[in-house]
Amino acid sequence: MNLNSQTYSSNRKTKIFNNPERFTEGWYWVIPSQNLRVGEVKPVTILGRELVIYRGKDKRLVTFDAYCPHMGAHLAEGKVEGNALRCFFHHWKFDAEGMCVDIPCLDTPPSLKLQTWPTAEKYGMIWVWTGEIPQQPLPFVPELEDKECDVAIHSHFVMNCHPNVVMINAIDAQHLNAVHKLPIEIIFERQELNENAVIFSNIIPIKDNSFFIKLIRIFYKNAITYSVCYWYGSIGIVTLGPDFFHVHTMFAVRLHEGGKAEGQILLITKKRKGFFGWLCNRIVLWLTKIAGKFFLMGDIQVVQTIQFDLKTPIKADHSIMQFINHVEKQQSLMWGTWQEGRSRDVENKPKRERWQDKMSND
Ligand code: FES
Ligand SMILES: [Fe+2]
Repeated sequence: MNLNSQTYSSNRKTKIFNNPERFTEGWYWVIPSQNLRVGEVKPVTILGRELVIYRGKDKRLVTFDAYCPHMGAHLAEGKVEGNALRCFFHHWKFDAEGMCVDIPCLDTPPSLKLQTWPTAEKYGMIWVWTGEIPQQPLPFVPELEDKECDVAIHSHFVMNCHPNVVMINAIDAQHLNAVHKLPIEIIFERQELNENAVIFSNIIPIKDNSFFIKLIRIFYKNAITYSVCYWYGSIGIVTLGPDFFHVHTMFAVRLHEGGKAEGQILLITKKRKGFFGWLCNRIVLWLTKIAGKFFLMGDIQVVQTIQFDLKTPIKADHSIMQFINHVEKQQSLMWGTWQEGRSRDVENKPKRERWQDKMSND
């Protein structure tokens, strides 16, 4: 890619990016944690696959495929018993590993296992990994990686375009000027966080000649931060602010029916102690909400009508091209079946190792 040329060639058709039949293997949001209490079971459909999710007596979350392997009853009609789930129809019981452990009319149940999916909680949401074994951590705000956080679940949305296209918005530098009237030039630098996460950070300092910048300049040394961290090509975390005060907004999006995007906006800040800490965080989260609105206002109509096709990329679209290339390198799965999509490196892929980080249900 020649950065000095005025236009880039984009004659390569993407296989994963903006494909309504594919998504990147990863962690995807399910429902807010508070919507599933101990002893509750709920039906959920994620990325075209029907599932049931329940919370056992030990508070752990368990996700199964939705239909009973006996006769196909929907398991969300069933009942949580301790840490297990009993089907409503003929009372077969499945433990948290999906093993059939009781059939009332048989002394010993046959060896039968339901498909289970790794499930965890973070930032007030329940997340499911769309493969057998999680390969990466749950999405996190890079600068709050090991910190306890305060989170406000702000809003839920459905947009009439692919999640990958929704993601681009935050690094589409031209539109930040054209639509959002940002009076500054933005140039991003890309940095890989891991195989499935990439960060784009603005490297152009904001000019000091406005009154507002002069006023707050006394509080900080470095350029105002504007960075976007993408996980699984479908979750974008925008971090914004001068160095003494950053706000973080997570746009957790997943592919919805008909190639649409279904998302949840989370406002995140680090936990502050005591009553004043709590109060301070309410204000911080309120300011974060205002910052989040900045990114949504003005674009809503475009994402309802866009037929994304970057036919004529120019130098200013460089970050978008980098993001597309990043998504193209991801492990893709098929909508509905969650089977591996054909990918260039399936054959040569090294044997996967278990993701080492602690996967917690707490
Ligand atoms: S259908 Fe579930 S036990 Fe028969
Ligand atoms: Fe925007």
